[in-house]
Amino acid sequence: MKRLLVALTGMFCLLAAAAPALAAGPHDMDCKECHSPHEAKADWIIGVAPQPSVITPDGSKMTLGPVDAMCLGCHNEKTGIMPVNLRTTHPVGIKPVHAKVPENLLSAGLLTCGSCHNPHPSNTNYKYLIVDTKGGKAMGVFCAVCHPGQSDPNTVEQAKKAILKADAVNTPLVKVEPKKAAPSSAGSAPAAKPAEAKKP
Ligand code: HEC
Ligand code: HEC
Ligand code: HEC
Ligand code: HEC
Repeated sequence: MKRLLVALTGMFCLLAAAAPALAAGPHDMDCKECHSPHEAKADWIIGVAPQPSVITPDGSKMTLGPVDAMCLGCHNEKTGIMPVNLRTTHPVGIKPVHAKVPENLLSAGLLTCGSCHNPHPSNTNYKYLIVDTKGGKAMGVFCAVCHPGQSDPNTVEQAKKAILKADAVNTPLVKVEPKKAAPSSAGSAPAAKPAEAKKP
């Protein structure tokens, strides 16, 4: 019995020590925060009301693709969950021209939030980035995946060896037309109401 206790205590210590390496990210709450098995609001049985359109850097309106619309369904000013403003964000929803983007990072040929982030709990990288940046200290390796022309040759070599935690974005089997914003609320996209999302 005593030996078992010692063994168990040892195991707990080991588990506790291993915990930080497996640190849970903020998306780990529940798959259902993003996917709703029976009440899909968007492709990939996404359960969050997508943000269908946004104002772009040049002031025009832009219709978002399914992945971007879904991320911005939570990451917007209204919900206040780490809001992402497309006016000040690295371009998304565009076809790469100069950047050398690996094919499997594109969604229907376009750069999306999912080209840089894989939001799944299985991805333990800093900020859900597709490449391990050593907690943000080696960000150049991440940029070099698509911008080798601007990157230091050693960094480009590291980027070539880096494991891409890209999700193979398959065509969704369940396709859901996002609801058009009601005429009364024209201009303001419907905000998502994630059940347990906390403010930063
Ligand atoms: C932060 C939102 C988010 C969370 C949390 C999330 N997913 Fe996803 N999931 C997505 C998005 C966006 C897609 C579609 C694009 C892609 O594959 O990345 C997707 C796609 C998928 C797919 C389709 C595979 C593919 O790439 O086409 C499966 C299966 C899946 N998710 C399962 C899960 C499971 C299981 C969990 C919980 C462990 C989970 N997801 C949690 C956002 C999320
Ligand atoms: C998954 C690929 C990818 C990654 C990773 C990536 N970029 Fe880009 N970047 C692009 C694409 C695509 C464009 C659009 C221009 C083009 O087609 O070449 C772009 C454009 C840019 C621009 C021009 C912006 C403008 O307004 O014209 C800058 C600057 C830039 N990226 C910097 C970075 C930095 C810094 C990082 C790392 C923190 C980074 N990028 C990571 C794909 C990527
Ligand atoms: C070109 C690559 C790239 C694209 C495209 C991109 N991101 Fe990011 N994102 C990053 C990087 C790099 C960081 C980490 C920045 C840091 O920690 O300095 C980040 C950080 C974040 C954060 C955390 C912010 C914080 O305060 O810590 C959120 C949320 C986020 N991104 C959401 C999005 C959403 C939503 C989209 C699509 C509209 C998107 N990202 C598109 C590269 C990208
Ligand atoms: C259901 C709501 C929801 C959706 C949809 C969602 N997120 Fe998040 N995300 C969150 C919450 C909540 C946090 C944690 C915010 C905080 O800690 O203040 C978060 C945090 C993040 C962070 C920061 C992670 C960190 O370690 O600090 C990134 C990056 C991010 N999200 C990217 C994305 C991307 C990319 C998508 C789309 C593929 C997406 N999110 C979709 C709710 C969501």
